[in-house]
Amino acid sequence: MFQARDRLIVALDVPSATAARRIIADLGDVVSTFKVGKQLFTAEGPSLVREFVEAGQKVFLDLKFHDIPHTVAQAVTAAARLGVSMLTVHASGGAKMLEAAAKAAAESRSHPQILAVTVLTSLSDDDLQTIGISGRVIDHVLRLAGLARASGCAGVVASPQEVPELRRELGEGFAIVTPGIRPAGAESNDQQRIATPVQAISNGASHIVVGRPITHAPDPAAAAAAIIAEMEQARISR
Ligand code: C5P
Repeated sequence: MFQARDRLIVALDVPSATAARRIIADLGDVVSTFKVGKQLFTAEGPSLVREFVEAGQKVFLDLKFHDIPHTVAQAVTAAARLGVSMLTVHASGGAKMLEAAAKAAAESRSHPQILAVTVLTSLSDDDLQTIGISGRVIDHVLRLAGLARASGCAGVVASPQEVPELRRELGEGFAIVTPGIRPAGAESNDQQRIATPVQAISNGASHIVVGRPITHAPDPAAAAAAIIAEMEQARISR
C-alpha cells in the first residue's frame, strides 16, 4: 500500500553530525527516511549511520559505489551491516557489478534496496559524446535502467524529466527515486530541471528526495508534512 510518509526521503546535505542530528530531531516524527551522502559520510563516518538506524530511522546511503564487482559486493555487505535500507551504485559499472551488488544485498540480513544511478543529471548529450557514448541521454538512461532491472537491482535514481519514460519502459514494481523536487512556489536553488511532489508521483516516481525545501524551511516539520499531504493527493488522483 502507498504510504506517502515512506516515500519521502530527506537529504542530510550538511557537514557535521550536529547539524544532521538537529534535522532529524526536527523531523523524526514526520519523516522516516534520511539520505546520507558523500559529504556527511566522509566527515562523520559509519558510526553516525549506525546511530540513526539504532534510533529507528531508515537510512538511504548515497555513496554511488562504482568499482570491480568483488569490491562493490564487499562494500554493499558492509553497508548492509550498518543497517541501511537503500544504497546507490553506478549502473555504468556493468551487469556483473550490479549482479554482485544485488546478490550481496540479498544475502545480507537487512536486505537493503540497491538503487542504480544511470546517467548523472549533470551530464548533457554533448558530455556523453566526450566519454564515447553517442546518442541522447534519455536513451542511455533507459538502457542502463533496463540493465539494472535485469541485474536484480530494486530501482533507479532519475531526474523528474526521465520518470515518465522510465515508468513506461520498466512497468510497476521497480523503484524510481527522484531528486530535484520543489513544491509549487519554492526556491529552485541550483536545481535546473525540477518537478513538484505531485508531478513526480503522478508521473510514476516511487520516492522523492527533498533537501533544502525542507531543511531550510522556517518550520521543517510543517514543510515535510505539506509535501507528504501533496504526495498522498497525487497518488489518489493517479
Ligand atoms: O536540496 P535539494 O532538494 O536540491 O537536494 C537534492 C538532493 O538530491 C541532494 O542530496 C543532491 O545531491 C541529490 N541529487 C540531485 N540531483 C541528482 C542526484 C542527486 O539533486 N541528479
